[in-house]
Amino acid sequence: MPKVKTKDKNAVLGIDIGGTGMKGAPVDIEKGVLLDDRFRIDTPHPPRPEPMLSVIGQIIEHFKWTGRVGCGFPGVMKKGEVFTAANLSKKWIGVNIRDEIDKMSSCEAAVINDADAAGLAEMKFGAGKERNGKGGGVVVMVTLGTGIGTAVFADGQLVHNTELGHIEIEGKDAEKRAAASRKEKDNLSWKKWGKKVNKYLQTMEMLLSPDLFIIGGGVSKKPERFFKYIDVRAELVAASMHNEAGIVGAALAIKL
Ligand code: BGC
Repeated sequence: MPKVKTKDKNAVLGIDIGGTGMKGAPVDIEKGVLLDDRFRIDTPHPPRPEPMLSVIGQIIEHFKWTGRVGCGFPGVMKKGEVFTAANLSKKWIGVNIRDEIDKMSSCEAAVINDADAAGLAEMKFGAGKERNGKGGGVVVMVTLGTGIGTAVFADGQLVHNTELGHIEIEGKDAEKRAAASRKEKDNLSWKKWGKKVNKYLQTMEMLLSPDLFIIGGGVSKKPERFFKYIDVRAELVAASMHNEAGIVGAALAIKL
């Protein structure tokens, strides 16, 4: 028997769609906590819509979910439709994930960019909560994973779909230089990679003058390994919700 009643007022199934894994869990969107264990499936390869939509279906089915669903997707999203998919199959472009969930289940769904989702969770429940409102200033959340995702907040207000992981630095897409996947692929030391992240954050600082940078992604569990190579004027903190930010934030999309 599933642990969570899917029609509970504050319960939303959060699904975090990523280039390596797809994860879901029911979330209490008022408390920002998971209500059951996460369920994870490797992202099918090649990462095309059909097999990945079927994984979304399996996640919904796993929790016997019939209530509301919020999804985070690694691309520009508008009204449920995928506009870009830098690290997945280009066949995703034009697919309306909200409509697809509607077809495969009885769930009402909302979809947002994955970094925007993580940013929402950190602003509401995590490292950004002191700045989530009037006078909070500019907060930039940067997720370092397969790609680089960004979420920009001004006084707690999110500007959706900023895609600042794709600014060019020295003629190259920034995420190709400084994403966590770059460190792995090239077997870079923390120092070498940390300096690339530094260059990226300094460029972001020049453009946006944030008051706070929140750094997310798996590497944010080990900030002591690379924060020492980062020299920016803004306050710099690691995301505090780690793995859960993507799922919790995805669930929050239902409120937007
Ligand atoms: C995508 C963004 C996404 C980021 C993190 C980038 O390649 O363009 O939409 O937020 O990766 O997944």
